[in-house]
Amino acid sequence: MPSILILDDEKSLREILEILFINEGFSVFLARNISEAKKIIDNYKIDIILSDLVIGKESGLDFIRYTYENYPGVPSVLITAYASPDTAMESIKLGVVDYISKPFDNDELVKMVKSIVCKECDKKYPDELKKIIGKSRFIDELKDKIIDIATGDSSVLITGESGTGKELVARAIHELSGRKNKPFIPINCGAIPSEIVESELFGYKKGAFTGAYADKKGLFEMASGGTVFLDEITELPINLQVKLLRVLQERKIMRVGSTDEQDVDIRVISATNRDLEKEVDEGRFRSDLYYRINVVRIELIPLRERIEDIEPLAKYFLKKFSDQMGKNIKEISYPVMELLKSYDFKGNVRELQNIIERGVALEKSDRLLPASILGYFSKKIADDEDVLPELKLDNPIQLEKILETIEKKYITSALNLTGNNQSRAAKLLGISLRILRYKIEKYRLL
Ligand SMILES: Nc1ncnc2c1ncn2[C@@H]1O[C@H](COP(=O)(O)OP(=O)(O)OP(=O)(O)O)[C@@H](O)[C@H]1O
Ligand SMILES: [Mg+2]
Repeated sequence: MPSILILDDEKSLREILEILFINEGFSVFLARNISEAKKIIDNYKIDIILSDLVIGKESGLDFIRYTYENYPGVPSVLITAYASPDTAMESIKLGVVDYISKPFDNDELVKMVKSIVCKECDKKYPDELKKIIGKSRFIDELKDKIIDIATGDSSVLITGESGTGKELVARAIHELSGRKNKPFIPINCGAIPSEIVESELFGYKKGAFTGAYADKKGLFEMASGGTVFLDEITELPINLQVKLLRVLQERKIMRVGSTDEQDVDIRVISATNRDLEKEVDEGRFRSDLYYRINVVRIELIPLRERIEDIEPLAKYFLKKFSDQMGKNIKEISYPVMELLKSYDFKGNVRELQNIIERGVALEKSDRLLPASILGYFSKKIADDEDVLPELKLDNPIQLEKILETIEKKYITSALNLTGNNQSRAAKLLGISLRILRYKIEKYRLL
């Protein structure tokens, strides 16, 4: 989700622009004056700035100059009725990409901003991919890859740590394929007792074994025309690995107790959170089967390696659980989001989902406040150590920034530890309540 910072002293205009860009899927930050705008850009990742030229007694160009010096590369659009040649020259130097004059046409403005801020914005992904949330380059590339491979029939192997979305991706591939109206059958190879895996997968003929009172279809047959998702593929017993290989090679299956082969038309998607290559090297997984299932490979990287996805995912889960529980929690407070962004999520997206679900259940206000997720994170806060950069002649530091970071970190922790009780937090930090409030405001910590 792209973010836009709107700097304008006119309330009605701010409101119109806010609605306009929220509807276009932007996260919108509003500032009334330059000092507010600075606070925002110092604390949030902003993709584009939309600023009025005249803001009360101030000039929008002063803010744009500040951005240019501190955050080079952030593009801006200037709202102005007229620009003198001097202003025009200077603004171009400062990275102003375009002008729009008042009164402007909403559609034109949106088009302009979108074309600047991200070439990808207009890229419409099919609905089947809407459930895959994230704004990292990784997620974009993943979606492109899913689209590329969905229509074919080649076997797909999805690898990734637990909770990274392997099943979600497998379903998306199925839903985008020509098989979408046929079954998607997930099979957890680790969950079926080894004695019955074969009959579960391949079915059996009446009388094949004690208790086989009638013919029974196996999961492969049930999936006919559709997709079989073999989860935890490394857990498949070695004798069944041979049989699966045959299914993939010949597209035929044989029910237990039968001598007739039948054709099956299935696509196989496998998944594992283990190191499959190692399993092959160490002889636990057949290499011929490995090559068959690994025709197309999708590797899902851990959430901690794509931090940009944390915010959109958190917001998505917030809405989901808030709706589900009939609550009206609209926002995630700053300290909570900061905590989430710095957490290492061993359980990946599933863990994030659990944290938000639990937080929503506990939250009583209309914002997700630190107290509601404190239980989960208290240990984490205690363990968290600041890494201070070493000062060397060839390694200058930004003292102000470092001090600010430390300050923000301690204030956030104090608020977390006291369940957001500001007087107690101030005591804990050894500062006055007034100063604490000032700093909370300054860093927008709540
Ligand atoms: N990018 C994403 N967008 C939205 N939801 C996601 C995303 N990635 C994962 N999830 C959600 O996280 C949870 C875990 O995902 P999933 O079950 O697909 O993971 P997995 O890799 O199969 O995990 P495991 O290895 O533990 O089986 C699911 O509820 C899934 O919907
Ligand atoms: Mg899974």
